[in-house]
Order: sequence, then C-alpha cells, then structure tokens
Amino acid sequence: MPTSARSFGQVAPYYDDLMKQVPYRMWGGYYLLLLANQDIHPHKILDICCGTGTMCELLTDEGFEMEGLDLSEGMVAEARRKAKKKHLNIRYEVADAANFDMGTTYDAAFSFFDSLNNIVDPDRLQSAFRTAARHVVPGGSFIFDLNTAYAFEQSLFDQENMRANAKLRYKWTGDWDPSSRIITVDMRFWYQDQSFREIHVQRAYGESEVREMLLNAGFGEIQVFNSYTLNPPRPKSDRLHFAARRL
Ligand SMILES: C[S@@+](CC[C@H](N)C(=O)[O-])C[C@H]1O[C@@H](n2cnc3c(N)ncnc32)[C@H](O)[C@@H]1O
Repeated sequence: MPTSARSFGQVAPYYDDLMKQVPYRMWGGYYLLLLANQDIHPHKILDICCGTGTMCELLTDEGFEMEGLDLSEGMVAEARRKAKKKHLNIRYEVADAANFDMGTTYDAAFSFFDSLNNIVDPDRLQSAFRTAARHVVPGGSFIFDLNTAYAFEQSLFDQENMRANAKLRYKWTGDWDPSSRIITVDMRFWYQDQSFREIHVQRAYGESEVREMLLNAGFGEIQVFNSYTLNPPRPKSDRLHFAARRL
C-alpha cells in the first residue's frame, strides 16, 4: 500500500479550514506565469494530488477544463462535494499518482503543495513521472513543486495552533532523518472533544535526481525555480518549482 494512504484521511473534512491562509490565488497566478514562460497554452489540465480541489476550482474559473486525482478518498469526497455545491463540472478520481489511468490525455498536468514529496520511494516517483508523461500530449506541460531538504532541516513541519478559540487545534512534530532524506511528521489534531492523529511521511529529492527522472520519463526543457519566482534555486530554497515539456 502506498505510504500516504494512511494520511490525509481523517483530516480531509478540516483540510480547507487548516489551509485558509494558503495563497492559492497567488499560486494560480504563478502557474499561469510558468505556463506563459514555457509558451504552452493548455485547454485541458490534470491536477495530480488535487486534494480538496481548490486549484481545480480556481483554474475552472479561469476557463480551463480541469480534472483531478488524489489517493485519499476523503480528500476526493470533499472535492466532489465542493464542486457539486458550486455547480462546477470537474471530474475527480481516487487514484495513485505513481500509477493511474485517466483514460484520456491532457495539454498540461501539475502537482502542487509538495504533494509528490509524499511519494517516498524513488522508484515510485519515477513511475509517477512516467505516468504523468503518458497522460500529457507531446509539447504539453508538466509543472510541480517539491519541498527541499533545507526545508526539512529547518523543521518546516514543527507547527502548532493550540489557541482555545481555534476551530481545529493541532500540534505537529517532524523527525528528519538526513541519511534516508525522509521526514516523519506526527500530526495530532483536536476538534471539540474529539482528537485524532495522522503520520505523514515525505522524502527530499535533490534537483539533479529529479531532473534525471524527468528525462527518463520523456520530459525535456526542464526549468527549475526558487518557488514563486523565475530565479534559479538557492542553497536556502525551501521549495522548488519544476517545469518541463513533454517531448
Ligand atoms: C498537501 S496536500 C495538497 C493537496 C492539493 N494539491 C492542495 O494544493 O491543496 C497533499 C495531497 O497529496 C495526496 N497524495 C499523497 N500521495 C499521493 C499519491 N501517491 N497519489 C495521489 N495523491 C497523493 C494527499 O492525499 C493529499 O491530498
């Protein structure tokens, strides 16, 4: 079973509330900038690891035809519930990014918010890139972001909100293992008089390792940016965006 099948389960109904400070609109703008920078003008786009579908909704509003997939049934259920409520025609499927078949192709695919770091086995990440390549038309775009090892070294996941008036209280503690490049995050949540716990696991991948996997999968013209800029990565980049063209 993929490691991440146990995560993003119980938290799914609270995910959007937890992420309400996340600047999805800015991310949408940055995505459009990266596409323009690639000179790729998609119509139909796949969101790999779409979560509760927030990016799909924003990009539907921009006029794109969006589809999304995610491993978590709970996250996909939330995405479908939201789309139905907003009368948005977005197809969502429960599927593993490392090996899926949507039965169609796309002009572009993307995966945001370090979702692919959740694939901790490098062979499975390679498989995810090959699977993405099978779904993107030649000349199409594949864009994603990854947390860096630097982010994990800086205890990115050590976060808490234990304020008494918070709707969902939480306390997260990350345990970074530099030898395996894996961080294991113990996430505890409290909602009214209930509590639950999720263990999330992410792996840090080096830029050259990712470039090689993308080339192996059939992507080229690979660009790597210090996230939310068009600048190259820096030693202290905590997140990188990769943009590649399907050959
Ligand atoms: C941090 S969330 C990001 C969700 C969404 N992209 C966003 O920006 O809000 C990571 C998502 O990746 C999904 N995920 C993790 N491993 C996956 C896999 N192997 N295949 C598909 N989805 C996966 C999780 O279920 C979760 O919804």
